[in-house]
Amino acid sequence: MAGSAPVANRGRGTALLSEVVSQSQRVVVTGAAGFIGSHLCERLLALGHEVVGIDSFTDYYERSRKEENLEGAKAHPAFTFEELDLVDGDLRPVLRGARAVYHLAGQPGVRPSWGEQFDRYIRDNVLATQRLLECLKETPIDRFVFAGSSSVYGDAEMFPTKESALPRPVSPYGVTKLAAEHLALLYAKNFGLPVVSVRYFTVYGPRQRPDMAFSRFMEALVDGDAIEVYGDGEQTREFTYVLDAVDGTIKAATADVLGQVFNLGGGSRVTVNRVLATLEDISRIKARRKTLPAAPGDPRHTGASINLARERLGWEPRVSLREGLTKQWEWFQESRKRQGMAAR
Ligand code: NAD
Ligand code: UGA
Repeated sequence: MAGSAPVANRGRGTALLSEVVSQSQRVVVTGAAGFIGSHLCERLLALGHEVVGIDSFTDYYERSRKEENLEGAKAHPAFTFEELDLVDGDLRPVLRGARAVYHLAGQPGVRPSWGEQFDRYIRDNVLATQRLLECLKETPIDRFVFAGSSSVYGDAEMFPTKESALPRPVSPYGVTKLAAEHLALLYAKNFGLPVVSVRYFTVYGPRQRPDMAFSRFMEALVDGDAIEVYGDGEQTREFTYVLDAVDGTIKAATADVLGQVFNLGGGSRVTVNRVLATLEDISRIKARRKTLPAAPGDPRHTGASINLARERLGWEPRVSLREGLTKQWEWFQESRKRQGMAAR
């Protein structure tokens, strides 16, 4: 499905790039209270758009963190928020008048997607996406941007991995993200929905989800606990700074690239061991490590070819791992301080 998909209804999604960029629009962000979604809302507001955020506050992690994520956007007069579940909520009134929909809501996390938890991956990744797409079938929007995932590649045969590589997920999570992406592209082909998918690669930075590696490492470091490393730590990830991912997402909503899929990767592959050494250096705290078995569902390596995003979106990741990790460390310390004060 990667590459250009024929678009049935060319009447939609054909606004000129210059028109889209220069106009203030009503846009919808699903998953607005989440890690990436909250940054996306703030960026869109800063660009002058009227933003409607949707989120159901799933209990994958604490609601209080998500409420905190939303604080910046909520302080802006052009932001409105709807607590709504995409699966069974009434979406039509919220979507009315929107020019672009950024669909980031979903159930993330690679390793917990086995066993009984799979139901929530099917529900919040596949069903939620299908419900939203059905609703958008008849809605005149200019763009639908889907938050795809590097997890669709599984253990890729080639690095850096191009969008045209055969997707072979190795986790149930990856299977649901691939299914949802394919669904979106089906609505492009059959109903002319102006779809673009961006595949994020392990995003990090302030507000990172508490289950993700850097958050867990920082938590353990300040609490004096051992850092749990899955496997030998020589697995690599193409870690991507959150504002770079957001920038690429917004570019995907405005460039002339309907029906296409883009990797948004941070620019280089880094081992988990290297991340830990950099974090020790930034924090000036020596880490204690505990080695755990490699986790089922984790690909050994991820690595993005970002040539397509460079050429077609004019996008380039700008934040180095050291710079981005420093920003996340500073944010982490600040939020720890706030939590301490709130507890008093
Ligand atoms: P997140 O959990 O912080 O944000 C997702 C938000 O979606 C949550 O606030 C949740 O409450 C909401 N949500 C879930 N199901 C919903 C539903 N049915 N209706 C309404 N809201 C619902 O996760 P994130 O890390 O910000 O990820 C955002 C998106 O990007 C996800 O789709 C994820 O699969 C994708 N992604 C993330 C990464 C990453 O490294 N963080 C990498 C690749 C892809
Ligand atoms: C991340 C997101 O969590 C997924 O939602 C997303 O879809 C995926 O990126 C993606 O790129 O598509 P992951 O790469 O597993 O998944 O991100 P982290 O949780 O930050 O893990 C990064 C690496 O650190 C992995 O190799 C993992 O095995 C390792 N890790 C993680 C540890 O060694 N210890 C931990 O405590 C956590």
